Amino acid sequence: MKRRWRAIFVVFGVLFGFTLVHARMMPKPNPDKLWRFITKDAPYEKWGQWGDHTGIQPGAAPHGKYHKVFVNKRGIYSPEAPVQYGTIVVKMNYADAGARNLNAVTVMYKVKDYNPEAGDWFWVKYMPDGMVETYGRPQGCIDCHAGHAENDYIMVHAFGDDDE
Ligand code: HEC
Repeated sequence: MKRRWRAIFVVFGVLFGFTLVHARMMPKPNPDKLWRFITKDAPYEKWGQWGDHTGIQPGAAPHGKYHKVFVNKRGIYSPEAPVQYGTIVVKMNYADAGARNLNAVTVMYKVKDYNPEAGDWFWVKYMPDGMVETYGRPQGCIDCHAGHAENDYIMVHAFGDDDE
């Protein structure tokens, strides 16, 4: 009997350990893996927001008229540009201020050595259901965001401000 309990204990220990490790593992720069991560493993709507860009905000072309930007812990706790690797920024793009019509979800994911010439960002544009529209190193995303290269390509948040 004792042995059996020990075996059960070991099996659960291993499963629990595996779950913990898995939860901490960051996805590869692959659009489908990243979507699963940000919707299932670590749902982005539970993440924080940058203090200087909270709630729903009006936006500029080519993104939606309104948006919400969510940032994972690594991004929130990055005090300055460049942000820590593993930072993920998710922007929900809406047609309306009431956040009823989600048009697209655009994402920036900071991956070491992914694209050193342009801040090592992995870019994705998803449809609301997770269908991938563009991903990788799209010149369009990079060229426009490069105007803020000194701010690690981030538009909505200014690093170094007091009210982070
Ligand atoms: C013509 C300029 C332009 C292009 C092209 C562009 N963006 Fe943006 N992006 C912006 C602006 C401006 C903001 C600030 C928020 C807003 O106005 O919607 C922004 C904000 C973002 C944010 C929130 C984090 C941040 O940087 O502030 C993400 C994520 C993002 N864009 C992803 C993308 C992706 C992915 C693409 C390519 C598919 C892309 N963007 C293409 C101008 C652009």
